[in-house]
Amino acid sequence: MAKKKDSVIDKVVSLCKRRGFVFQSSEIYGGLGSCWDYGPYGIELKNNLQDLWWREMTQLHDNIVGLDAAILMHPRVWEASGHVSGFVDPLVDCKQCKARFKAQDLVDGWRDKKKLDGLADGDIPPESEGDLETLKLIRWGEAVCPNCGTRESLTEPRLFNLMFKTFMGPVEEAASVTYLRPETAQGIYVNYQNVMNTARLKIPFGIAQVGKAFRNEITPGNFIFRTREFEQMEMQFFVKPGDDEAWLEKWRDERFASYLKLGIKKEKLRIHEHSEKELAHYAKAAYDIEYEFPFGWQELEGIHNRTDFDLKRHTEFSGKDLSYFVEQTREKFTPYIIETSAGLNRTMLVVLVDAYDEDVQDGEPRTVLRLHPKIAPTKVGIFSLVKKSGLPEIADKIAQDLRPVCAVFTDHQGSIGRRYRRMDEIGTPWGVTVDHQTLEDQSVTLRDRDTLAQERVNISDLPKIIREKLAE
Ligand code: GAP
Repeated sequence: MAKKKDSVIDKVVSLCKRRGFVFQSSEIYGGLGSCWDYGPYGIELKNNLQDLWWREMTQLHDNIVGLDAAILMHPRVWEASGHVSGFVDPLVDCKQCKARFKAQDLVDGWRDKKKLDGLADGDIPPESEGDLETLKLIRWGEAVCPNCGTRESLTEPRLFNLMFKTFMGPVEEAASVTYLRPETAQGIYVNYQNVMNTARLKIPFGIAQVGKAFRNEITPGNFIFRTREFEQMEMQFFVKPGDDEAWLEKWRDERFASYLKLGIKKEKLRIHEHSEKELAHYAKAAYDIEYEFPFGWQELEGIHNRTDFDLKRHTEFSGKDLSYFVEQTREKFTPYIIETSAGLNRTMLVVLVDAYDEDVQDGEPRTVLRLHPKIAPTKVGIFSLVKKSGLPEIADKIAQDLRPVCAVFTDHQGSIGRRYRRMDEIGTPWGVTVDHQTLEDQSVTLRDRDTLAQERVNISDLPKIIREKLAE
């Protein structure tokens, strides 16, 4: 039987493990579902993505500043935000095999199959709408479990809150319940006046934050695409009501352009505008930036017009006036918020999948990550052609001189072709090789990962050349 061809995701997962980008969490104990640890190259790549985002969102704007709020927040925050009552997924259980399903996934699956497991066509609402009213239209008690095939074994959908609950202090009682934040945004809203006053900001202005968020997802999966612990890169932009629609478009375009700057293929990116039915409870309008993964088009980042919903709710629940006052005009209003919300781990998966390539060089198959040099975990691999005649020592000295410029590594083991392949596989854009000619004229070869061009350059020029290439 022909071997099933691995998908790009399988290949990326395998490369990530083999080369130290991502490991399964607690692997020696059999792993923990949907949790991942980032190894030496993974953390470099993730940090580079985060640094670029941070620079682009704060340093390049005179009216956006940063914040790092605590993961644990007052439980009332999550009542005000709507997460305690609204951040729920309806779940259906099979009484026979004990499998648990997201009700919406079952409905979508039945609709895709066109034929219904025990239900008549008319029992399935026409569109995937995802609200409780739609799910109530289905005769769950008559359906067939897609896992064990038993008829009349499914329960009615029950609401399941996606927030991780924990207890603050030594006593596990209702009064000490708190939550791991399911989004970083709320830390910004409750601090908006602190930040505005101390940084002396005037509307319009933004607050950026990168940090962990936690959701007890029912169906995590696709490697680091959907996990229960993940990192968000969010920026909340405070504007005058009435200016919100123009700012939403501006931020949508700016964020889309930023993925192109990362080198992501344009034809793999698109913008999806939310229909009325898809909008979150807080949003007046929203766009998703989507990427075409091997498992379909999926959201990578959301740009939302959250109106004055959040600040008004926090005003109501905290009793603190969170409105904004304009001295000159004596105007008072609650700012509208335009949010850009991206997943850091998801961005990493996009750049890995998009950069993954295979070709044949000198008759040998090659795996190459065509990562943009700015995000590549290491920028230069430094090799000695042979492990004698003082060549490794020269290579080590070159590495030492380049370290202040960028992340480099040395590799003196195996054939030079194999060493180039190892550097290509982790996406290193340039290779420097010290050979016998180096002993005569202090020159080395500089190899380009993508064009495979090799040029001879002087050792003393290397820091300047690499610095210039990285600035391109
Ligand atoms: N503050 C708004 C907010 O959190 P969201 O659309 O729920 O909006 C924003 O999430 C981004 O966070 C998503 O586009 C995605 O990149 C990332 N994200 C959300 N849930 C995730 C999960 N379970 N695993 C990994 N990334 C996730």
